Amino acid sequence: MEYQIILIGCGTVGQGFLEILDRKAELLRDVYKFEPKVIAITDMLKGSLLAPDGIQLKKLLEVLKAGKKLNDYPGPKEKTEDYLDPIDLIEQVEADILAEVTYTDIKTGEPATSYIKKALRTGKHVVTSNKGPAALHYHELKELAHLNQRHFRIEGTVMSGTPVFHLFETGLAGNEIREVKGILNGTTNFILSQMELEEMEYDEALKLAQELGYAEADPTADVEGFDAVAKVVILANAIMRGKIKPDEVNRQGISTLRKQQIIEAREAGLRYKLIARVKKVNNHIEASVTPEKLPLTDPLAGVMGAQNALTFDTDLLGKVTIQGAGAGRLETGFSILSDMLAISKSGKN
Ligand code: HSE
Repeated sequence: MEYQIILIGCGTVGQGFLEILDRKAELLRDVYKFEPKVIAITDMLKGSLLAPDGIQLKKLLEVLKAGKKLNDYPGPKEKTEDYLDPIDLIEQVEADILAEVTYTDIKTGEPATSYIKKALRTGKHVVTSNKGPAALHYHELKELAHLNQRHFRIEGTVMSGTPVFHLFETGLAGNEIREVKGILNGTTNFILSQMELEEMEYDEALKLAQELGYAEADPTADVEGFDAVAKVVILANAIMRGKIKPDEVNRQGISTLRKQQIIEAREAGLRYKLIARVKKVNNHIEASVTPEKLPLTDPLAGVMGAQNALTFDTDLLGKVTIQGAGAGRLETGFSILSDMLAISKSGKN
């Protein structure tokens, strides 16, 4: 079945998603009966492009790879603009799915939340990898989607395309989830791994993480645990049915940890990890992000480098751990595809 898609945001994730659609077009059509047609894209830096007959992705990707803008797309189009306001675009263009992959603002969730609301109210399914709306307004957006009989899907918000929410919704369906506990930030896990394996001091490991492109120039969101807090709130609300806010999470980052502490832990058979945890305590939900010393028998202790992992503690199956990428162009681009395939599979067009 054909799905008309609007893409808001054409940075790393948006382009990764477009590349996947291009590379997998035949497989998606033949095996999954999914025929995506991207008809509109708008991006604050790259401009805007409308092509109701479908954008030719190969041509567009060439343009973008050359560092040019959407305005330079040479294929058939209705129009290009320096920048079309996403709200106007969503209102004016009829489409089946909005893929929202703009930047995360964890304080307000905006402007992404407004885009998502507009899309749901104008009858579009929404797929997003943006943590802001999911962390701050999950229940409201889910309810709005329900009222409009649309999907609101967020696989890419936690562990990029690693199928955390798909696992919860399908393979683990029917279980009570008593606790989720994981490594949800790749930058800090990389730094801790370097401090232990290479015996680096924190500052040296952080510098390497920045050089390799894991950590931002301002690494606060990662190293002080704010990024993991956003993700743990999403898990608390979407998986554990909580109603918590980021400032209710007990948070401690890794910036005060010293090499000596990590080596002492290693000598005691323990390993420091920045653990994000949600659990039910007396019928209410508690969430935390703190460095913990794990025994090496814990599956999370074996997760090194920039990888992420999450353990579900379930009533019927015991503990189930999923490990995989937590970020990346194709990895997060894939989360957008996987949510679209879930929409397609549900038969709701
Ligand atoms: N900065 C995050 C991390 C990736 O290091 O895991 C995006 O969520």
